[in-house]
Parts: sequence; C-alpha cells; structure tokens
Amino acid sequence: MHSRRALLYMPGDNWKMITKSITLGVDSICMDMEDGTAINKKAEARATIAKALQELNFGESEKLARINSVGSGWEKDDIDAVLPYRPDGIVIPKVESFEQVEWASRIIETAELKYGWPLNSVRMVIGVETARGILNLKEIAAHPRLDAIIFGGEDFAASIGAIRTKDAIELLYARQAVVVACAANDLQAIDIVTIDYKDIEALRVESEFGARLGYSGKQIIHPAQVEPVQIAFTPNDEAIAHAKRIVETFDASQKEGKGAYSLDGKMIDMPLLKNAQKVLARARAAGK
Ligand code: COA
Ligand code: MG
Repeated sequence: MHSRRALLYMPGDNWKMITKSITLGVDSICMDMEDGTAINKKAEARATIAKALQELNFGESEKLARINSVGSGWEKDDIDAVLPYRPDGIVIPKVESFEQVEWASRIIETAELKYGWPLNSVRMVIGVETARGILNLKEIAAHPRLDAIIFGGEDFAASIGAIRTKDAIELLYARQAVVVACAANDLQAIDIVTIDYKDIEALRVESEFGARLGYSGKQIIHPAQVEPVQIAFTPNDEAIAHAKRIVETFDASQKEGKGAYSLDGKMIDMPLLKNAQKVLARARAAGK
C-alpha cells in the first residue's frame, strides 16, 4: 500500500499550488473539488485536475482527487471529470454509509474494465467525519475496496456542535473510533488537519499525539507542514532499534519456553512483539 504519512490538499482550481505540490516530496497529493473549492469554481476545478493528471509528472507522490460528498449533487460530475485520466485514487468526503462507498466503487470498477486497467488499481480513500459516519463505521470500514480512512476534525466538530480546542479533547472519542475501525480492517488511518499552519510546534505536538493514538498519517494544507508530519509518522531510530531488539530476543525466549521475559528491566511478551513488528512495518513503508 502507498505510504500516506502526509496527505496534502489544495483547491483543485489552483494550478499554481498543484504544480508546487509535485516538488515537495509529499506522500500524497489530494486535488480537491470539495470544501477547498468555492462553489462557483467546481467546474474549473474538475477541468484543472483533469489537465494536471494528463500533463504533470507526480513522481513518487500519489495523485488523488477528492470529489464532493455522495448526495451533494456534484459527486457524479466530479468523478466523471477526473477518473478517465487515471488518478491513483479517489477520495470521498463525509461518508455516512456502506452504500455510498459502494456507489463510488462501482463507478471505479466500470472505468477499470472500460479502460483495461487492472481491477482495484484505482484506490479508494474515504473521510468519515460526521456523527452518522462514526455511528456506521463498522459497516463502512469493512468495504473491501478501501485503503484508508481520513478523520476530519473540523467537519466532525461541526457535525456534533463541539467547540474546538488546541488539545482536541472534544474529538477524542471519534478520533479513536476511526483508528479502531481501521486497525480491524487493515486500513491506514489519516488524522485531522492542523489549521493553524503557521504554528509548526503545534503541528508537531498534534502529529506526535496522532501517531501515539495509532494513526499512520495526517492531512495537511501547506508546504511547511510536509516535513514535520513525515517525521512524526516515521518511527525514529530509537524506536526502530528497540523494536529490533524485541524481535531478536523474543524468539530465543520462546525457545527457552518463556512467554514473558525481561529486557532492560521491562516485561516483554506477545503484545509487545506485535507492536514492535508494527513499528518495523511502518519504518519499512516509510523507506527506512
Ligand atoms: N499546496 C501546494 N502549494 C501550496 C499550498 C498547498 N496546499 N498552500 C500554499 N502553497 C504554496 C503557495 O502557492 C506559495 O507558493 P509560492 O511560494 O511559489 O508563491 C507557497 O506555498 C507559500 O504559501 P503561503 O503564502 O504561505 O500561503 P497562502 O497564504 O498562499 O495560502 C492557505 C494559505 C491556507 C490559503 C493555503 O495554504 C491553502 O489553500 N491550503 C489548502 C487548503 C485546502 O485545500 N483546504 C481543503 C482541505 S482541508
Ligand atoms: Mg472537510
């Protein structure tokens, strides 16, 4: 699966930002037709994204297009405008039911058959960021076509009438519900946007907290956010070295007939091994 530590949005009608995004070494580039695009610019965004998909070389960055939510009235024109130019994936915001995922999945599969692309080669990433979406997470997250779920903090706060704070305590329940649903279905979990994009220290703190919750990546909105987020969602050298030691010592301990043993004065058993393996998998996915 493509690594999505940092997923950068820009308004789909903004050619300048799209061309800038391909120079940033960012994991995923998400050209937006939804809320980042003004209502009177939806058509222009569709045409600009189609042009970018045809003309620009995105290098190692994943090229994604975000359509408007299913039921908005714009979603069909959005997906029809960009899909023929073969984005790496389609992002669907504010998903509230399995059927909405299925709607997009059918359209993508039809395109794959029509153009002779391998089945499932166009990936799907969805936003679950409303009260109804969180309630229906169990069914939604089980859709076989999904790669990742994005949790939108601002949309969720608006959906429940929460007052946003810097530590985001008001989001915690839903933010963790998304991680759990992702882990249960082997999906990546992509965390909230830090909208105060000039405050890099706040971004670092929020990114590290998201990583501790179990998120594998974060949405971003500005070039200055790329590197701090990539660092926060890549296990550091110390974490990798510790994970390697657990993996190395675990086998020997099992052979000695011990399920639990002591390493540096701390107890190690199966769940710690599993977590260490996850750390190493994330490090590998990030090219470390
Ligand atoms: N993607 C690519 N390039 C971006 C960018 C983005 N999201 N945001 C800013 N840039 C570029 C600018 O074009 C500018 O380029 P230049 O130096 O070549 O002129 C450079 O980065 C510095 O930008 P800056 O002046 O600091 O920001 P701004 O005031 O122009 O824009 C925002 C600030 C928040 C309006 C802008 O970052 C933005 O629109 N972000 C995306 C918002 C979005 O898509 N929201 C919906 C999803 S949550
Ligand atoms: Mg949103």
